[in-house]
Amino acid sequence: MKHLIGLLLGTEEDWPAAFETVLRRLGPIRGVGEFDVERITIEPFDLRDRPRHDLVIDRLAYWYYHPREWLKKVAMMDDVYLLNSPFTFQSMEKHAAYCAMIRLGLKVPDTVLVPYKNPPDNARYAYTAARYNRPFDLDRVAESIGYPLFMKPYDGGAWRGVSLVRSPEELHAAYDASGEMLMHLQQAVDGYDAFARSLSIGAETMVMRFRPAEPMHARYAVDHAFLSPAVGEEVVTIGRLVNAFFRWEFNSCETLVKGTDVHPIDYANACPDVALTSLHYYFPWAIKALVRWSVFCVATARRPRLDLDTREYFAVTGSYGERLAAYRRLADEYFETERYQEFCATHLRHLDDIVLEWVAGPDFDRLLVDTVTATYPARERDRFVSHFRGLLGMWVKDSG
Ligand SMILES: Nc1ncnc2c1ncn2[C@@H]1O[C@H](COP(=O)(O)OP(=O)(O)O)[C@@H](O)[C@H]1O
Ligand SMILES: [Mg+2]
Repeated sequence: MKHLIGLLLGTEEDWPAAFETVLRRLGPIRGVGEFDVERITIEPFDLRDRPRHDLVIDRLAYWYYHPREWLKKVAMMDDVYLLNSPFTFQSMEKHAAYCAMIRLGLKVPDTVLVPYKNPPDNARYAYTAARYNRPFDLDRVAESIGYPLFMKPYDGGAWRGVSLVRSPEELHAAYDASGEMLMHLQQAVDGYDAFARSLSIGAETMVMRFRPAEPMHARYAVDHAFLSPAVGEEVVTIGRLVNAFFRWEFNSCETLVKGTDVHPIDYANACPDVALTSLHYYFPWAIKALVRWSVFCVATARRPRLDLDTREYFAVTGSYGERLAAYRRLADEYFETERYQEFCATHLRHLDDIVLEWVAGPDFDRLLVDTVTATYPARERDRFVSHFRGLLGMWVKDSG
C-alpha cells in the first residue's frame, strides 16, 4: 500500500524539509506500507475531483481561503485526515476554548468580553451599533476583575494587541488602541511560578518551560524537571483534553502554574510554532511526533471525526481531580493513545535511531545552517549557528 501525505505550507522551510527527510529515511514499513510526501500547490479544483492524499498537514488555510475550502472539500467528501481541520478552527478559537474550559471546571482566570471600541466599518453595523451598543463602564469592569489584568483579542495569536494593564490610564489607552479588535479583559495570573507551554501532536505532548520575555530563540528553556510530576501530568491532561474536545490535533497550549494551581490562558493555535530556531532541542521530537502520528493515522485508517460529541465531556461530575481523570480517559480514547503507543512500539521502533543518526550527521547540520541563514541577519549567523548546534548536540547526547 502506498500512502501520500500532503503539506500545505506558508513560508516555512525548516520543519517541512525535516519531515520529508525523516519520512523518506524511514522507508517502507513492513506490514504497514510505503509513505511519500509532497507539497500541495494552489490551483482550481473541481468539487468532484478525488484527492491523492491520505493526510494533509496544513499550515496555510488559517489565513488563505482558497486552500481552506479545498481542505473542507477533501475532508467532507473524501475522508482525508487533516492536521488541523478548518471545521474545528474556523468557528472555535481562543474564546470558545475559554468557554469550554470554564464549563469543564478548569482554572481559567476571570475573563470578560467587552464590545468593540470602534464597531466594524460597515454601513449596516453603524445602525446596529448606534442602536444596540449600550454604553458601559469600562472602569467598573476592570475593577471587578482587579488590576493587573490583560487586555487581548478574543481570538488571539502571535501576541497581537496584547497589553498588560496596571491602572485605569493604561486601561483606557489599551481600549482606545484596540480599534476594531474584539477584546477580552482577563485577570492576570500575577507572580506565577512557571509558564508551561505544551506542544501537542496527536496523542503526544511535550511540556516545555517557556520564558515569554526572552527573544524567540531563547523562549524555550531546556529543563526536564521544572514541574512536579503531578503538575506535569495535569498540564498534559489539560492540553490533551482541549485538543480532543475541539478535535485539534496539532496545537500549542499555554498554562501558568502558580503554587499547585494550573491556569490555562491560551489554547487555540492553528499553526503552532515548530521552527527549528525556537524549538531547537525539542525540534527532533516534534518531527518524530509528526511522522509517527501521520503514519499512525494513515496506516490504521483512522477516520476524521467532526462531530464534537461535547455532551460526554459535560456529563462528567465529581471533584476537580476526579473530573481531570475522567477527561483524560475521554481524551485518550479520542486519540487512541494506547493503540498509538502500541503501533509505534511495533512498527516505528527504528524511527528513534534514524532521527538520531540524521540529527548527528551533516544533512541536519546543513538544514540548521540554512535555517539560521534565512532567519537571522548576517552578523548574527555565526553566533546562532553555534548556539543551536550546542542545543542539538545536547539533544543527541541525551538521546544516545
Ligand atoms: N491572564 C494572564 N496572566 C498572565 N500573563 C498573561 C495572561 N494572559 C496573557 N498573558 C501574557 O501575555 C502573553 C500573550 O497572551 P496570549 O493569551 O498567549 O495571546 P496570544 O494568543 O497572542 O499568544 C502570554 O504569553 C503571557 O505572557
Ligand atoms: Mg500565547
